Amino acid sequence: MQFFKSAVVTAVALCAALAVQARTLDEIKKDGKIIVATEGQFAPFNFFEGTKLTGFEVEVAELVVKKMGLKLEWKTLGFDALLTGLGQSRWDAVIASHGVTDERSKAVTFANPHYCSGGIIVAMDDKIRNAKDLTGKVVAVQTGTSYLEQVKKVSGVKEVKNFPQDTDAQRALISKRVDAWVSDKFVAKEAAAKNAKAGFKLGDMLFIERIAPAMAKGNTGLADAWNKAFTEVLADGSYAAVSKKYFNEDVRCN
Ligand code: ARG
Repeated sequence: MQFFKSAVVTAVALCAALAVQARTLDEIKKDGKIIVATEGQFAPFNFFEGTKLTGFEVEVAELVVKKMGLKLEWKTLGFDALLTGLGQSRWDAVIASHGVTDERSKAVTFANPHYCSGGIIVAMDDKIRNAKDLTGKVVAVQTGTSYLEQVKKVSGVKEVKNFPQDTDAQRALISKRVDAWVSDKFVAKEAAAKNAKAGFKLGDMLFIERIAPAMAKGNTGLADAWNKAFTEVLADGSYAAVSKKYFNEDVRCN
């Protein structure tokens, strides 16, 4: 029995040693630099302008991190890999337009939402406007997104096609390989304005969501410090200025 007990204790200790712990706020502060991951393919929120990573949430994160007194190192990866990397401590935070869902909340700790938006139906045919109109239709969405989860719930949809990037889903609509594309309201608005010739028709919102940065599950020290800095960014007018620049309106959650 004694042997068994100590074997269990050893096994537990070994597992704890092998598990990669997320960096605490203190460790990040000591290092002076926070590592934040995003996708870089979701304009106007996170995207590349030539070789420069930019976008609404990239700029908001830069304001927040500055208030925290830290340097920011960006990493860009495929959308699907972002939240997983948090658990493995490959980066400290993710800001990539993740909607706060129950499922994701089991795996990560969300900071306060940095904007409110939702999924909108986009089609070439202006008769495809709402969930009902998706009956018998083929719909394109990005893999791993809340759009995929929500479209799956719409009854009567013929097929949901998923694409590694949201821009691929958009292109599938342009080339008429699908009947509709579901994406973020602001992403769709910008895509419609930029490709006037494509003839996108923006339909109804399918659902609304609160979009928030994510930290490793339980890293509340980091989330609290982020939230405190974010509150200051909301209060001092800098959030409003960046929001106005990208959207001509204030996209904060009320
Ligand atoms: N808001 C959606 C979600 O929560 C889509 C996010 C897509 N983000 C991106 N960087 N492609 O899943």
